[in-house]
Amino acid sequence: MSESTLKDFQTAAAELQRAACAAFDAADSADSLEKARAEFLGRTSGRLLALQRLVPSFEGADRGVAGRAFNEVKTGLEASLDARRVTLESSARTSAPKADLTMPSRGQFLGAEHPVTLVIEEIIEIFRGLGFTVATGPEAETEWYNFTALNFPPDHPALDMHDTMYLAKDVVLRTHTSPVQIRALQAGPPPIRVVIPGNVYRLDPFDASHAPAFAQIEGLAVDEGVSFVDLKATLTHFASRFFGSTRTRFRPSYFPFTEPSAEMDVECQLCKGAGCAACKGSGWMEILGSGMVHPNVLEAAGVDSERYTGWAFGMGPGRIALQRYGIPDIRTLYDSDLRFLEQVAR
Ligand code: DAH
Repeated sequence: MSESTLKDFQTAAAELQRAACAAFDAADSADSLEKARAEFLGRTSGRLLALQRLVPSFEGADRGVAGRAFNEVKTGLEASLDARRVTLESSARTSAPKADLTMPSRGQFLGAEHPVTLVIEEIIEIFRGLGFTVATGPEAETEWYNFTALNFPPDHPALDMHDTMYLAKDVVLRTHTSPVQIRALQAGPPPIRVVIPGNVYRLDPFDASHAPAFAQIEGLAVDEGVSFVDLKATLTHFASRFFGSTRTRFRPSYFPFTEPSAEMDVECQLCKGAGCAACKGSGWMEILGSGMVHPNVLEAAGVDSERYTGWAFGMGPGRIALQRYGIPDIRTLYDSDLRFLEQVAR
């Protein structure tokens, strides 16, 4: 091989090295660097491979010179390829979008009070503002507190209204919160103004408007000179505080423990009185039963019915929650379905 051929080889090697280094430096992404690598260092068709194929064409010492020259170029190129790769990777890391620390966090649903609890608390707050305090009583009651002291005669048809769960002979799961009226009257002399929240139990079928266990709130006001005017004024005030300005009406009714008795309706909050499925077309929703405490009830609890008079009410916060949240089926309140509860949580 002639001198000039070895020279040509060395020139070509130097040129290849220069071109490859320039190509690696120009690559600005992992993809373009890979393209440059394939062009120069590709195992099947790279330009370095073409140079390597020339080495065996040299004879003797020339072959050694050419081989070393080729090796130098190869190690040099591999080193500059690696260096460029490291540079590109670290700049990709630093230019990656940074976490935005000002973004609001996603937050976790920590739980909230049940809509019926919210309604109970709101009702209690309204009566607290009128001077009422909160009283409670046992859920397991004797027949005497649940019925007898409340003026239910043993064979009275009103007993049929209460499909009662018996725990033992003479011991029932209270069917209403009214027995706590007796306990409040026994606790001390009037004046008495209490509201009594609690759960009550009935052997009702579990359907869209009945549940076997549900909440009630009872109210009792007993003092000298208390009249039906107090009842009507207080309950009307309550309705306007709770529902906002809305129409109310009282209808005569019957309960053994009150005389006279009345049920109070508010304009249906879903249809605003127009009549809808929830109010069965009447435009009204019954929210409570009430009346003047029967003298027999005062006497059964040891309160002088000649001196004192009083009024009482009982309402179902579950029913009221249905109205407030526009829920058509009472079972929704007891399903513990988070998709519902999250909507009404506050
Ligand atoms: N205890 C009655 C019931 O569960 C509700 C009730 C009506 C309570 C009139 C009262 C009242 O205190 O005066 O159906």
